[in-house]
Amino acid sequence: MKIALTGNRNKDLCKYIVNRLEAKGHECLCLSRETGVDFNDESNVKGIVKKIRDCDIFINLYANFFFRQTLIAHNLWHHWESKGENNKRIINIGSTTDNVRRGKTNRYHYEKLALKEWSNGFSIAGVWDNKPKVTHLSIGTMQNRQEENPERTCLDLDQVAYYVEWIIDQPAGININNLSLDPIQ
Ligand SMILES: NC(=O)c1ccc[n+]([C@@H]2O[C@H](COP(=O)([O-])OP(=O)(O)OC[C@H]3O[C@@H](n4cnc5c(N)ncnc54)[C@H](OP(=O)(O)O)[C@@H]3O)[C@@H](O)[C@H]2O)c1
Repeated sequence: MKIALTGNRNKDLCKYIVNRLEAKGHECLCLSRETGVDFNDESNVKGIVKKIRDCDIFINLYANFFFRQTLIAHNLWHHWESKGENNKRIINIGSTTDNVRRGKTNRYHYEKLALKEWSNGFSIAGVWDNKPKVTHLSIGTMQNRQEENPERTCLDLDQVAYYVEWIIDQPAGININNLSLDPIQ
């Protein structure tokens, strides 16, 4: 399959997902500043659809500002839906901050809540109305953020990549609507 990711194939979670998927023979297209796509430029929020419209799966890893991760998913989903490409899949990568209900004041929290809410609605549309498919994967802190969080046990990046691969490998006819992973402290 052809799989698009917002991220850099040489670092962070993207690297581990690409390693696993390419080892299985999938073709990965990675979009980040290194490949000329900067999400600080608002035109890329719509423009990305052109670059990835022929992919079978989109792994929505980056763009955690100004709610752009949600907007990118929304634009792509509607493009695929308008073409009747209902077997394509968006995998949104969220954060387990979306389980927290106390008075958070950082924007990241509300961006991830918005993304989770979007995934909830659109995954059900995929299941009941035969529309493009959506899976939401919320994750806790990973080891690439260990230095900023020395007191936490962090998730191994390859282990998270394993769950992304597992979502992709589900049999046709099953939709994983959402999955939430935290390392036990
Ligand atoms: N890390 C964690 O502990 C953690 C915890 C919970 C959830 N998450 C979620 O997991 C996902 C992946 O996180 P991550 O830690 O692997 O990576 P990340 O910090 O989200 O960054 C991923 C990639 O984004 C690219 N990037 C940065 N600024 C950009 C820009 N302006 N335009 C385009 N691309 C840009 C960078 O590549 P370039 O330098 O090539 O642009 C970077 O390698 C994110 O959605 C994050 O919110 C992460």
